[in-house]
Amino acid sequence: MQDRIISFIGCGNMGLSLIGGLIADGHPAENLRAMDKEPAQLDRLHRLFPVRGTDRLEEAVAEADVVVLAVKPQGLKALCLELAPLLPGPGPLILSVAAGIPTGALQRWLGEERAVVRAMPNTPALVGSGASALYATAQVSEEQRILAENILRAVGLVIWLEEEEQMDAVTALSGSGPAYLFLVIEAMEAAGRELGLEPQQARLLSLQTAYGAAKMALESELDPATLRQQVTSPGGTTERALEVLESGGLRSLFLNALTAARDRSRELAQTLGSE
Ligand SMILES: NC(=O)c1ccc[n+]([C@@H]2O[C@H](COP(=O)([O-])OP(=O)(O)OC[C@H]3O[C@@H](n4cnc5c(N)ncnc54)[C@H](OP(=O)(O)O)[C@@H]3O)[C@@H](O)[C@H]2O)c1
Repeated sequence: MQDRIISFIGCGNMGLSLIGGLIADGHPAENLRAMDKEPAQLDRLHRLFPVRGTDRLEEAVAEADVVVLAVKPQGLKALCLELAPLLPGPGPLILSVAAGIPTGALQRWLGEERAVVRAMPNTPALVGSGASALYATAQVSEEQRILAENILRAVGLVIWLEEEEQMDAVTALSGSGPAYLFLVIEAMEAAGRELGLEPQQARLLSLQTAYGAAKMALESELDPATLRQQVTSPGGTTERALEVLESGGLRSLFLNALTAARDRSRELAQTLGSE
């Protein structure tokens, strides 16, 4: 893995996070390349990492084993059409982190026989705690699967999908999920203030409670339902609050919310990938 040349196209938030994660994981910076058409982004790259940056696509991908596409979905088609003639033969692995662009569209733009991995990371990747789902086309070798997995694992957890269709559910769950949890934290904080806490106290207690609960659930062998039961004493305060949340329809509200996000993800994939 460490001797592989990985080229990043797009040095925005996601591109720089992946570069930072790989370097922190011990990937030699001299084996990374980065390209951005925005000079300010290349300046940012050079201030942060000793990685060779360029504004020339040809130079960036010349020796690449993996080309990571980290530009906004709207710019992906134009980038792929420019990239296709620069990649001879089967070429390097293409790893796209662009939300909503199916592998079928990427292969149509880059060449049907290209090895393509589509990844759906989420924003906590920016702080090294992302959750990513990956899907590989039939052309991807075992070694390329491991490479793709290692790149995304540098910024958090990775799972593989057998069916690309599942990517819409991933988008609804972990892709949009940070925003649902920010909303829950906001609501808990506001309620804490209503009940008489200082704003800063309510914020810190809400944030640390969310962090602590997630950490505890991740580190425990017990499932979240069991952990919840264990902190719910009969006749106690937690039981009283959970009764309100359950009778208010929290579970069906989440199901409806994720279904709406999944449906929107399907619509966007059709629009963005159909050209
Ligand atoms: N940020 C996240 O948390 C997150 C989460 C999940 C998935 N993603 C995916 O990751 C991708 C990148 O997101 P981001 O937030 O890092 O975007 P971003 O901050 O806008 O960064 C993209 C960078 O690529 C540059 N660029 C655009 N077209 C280019 C081209 N043809 N050649 C070279 N550079 C080009 C952009 O320049 P201009 O600004 O001049 O266009 C910008 O500097 C997106 O497809 C997004 O769906 C991001």
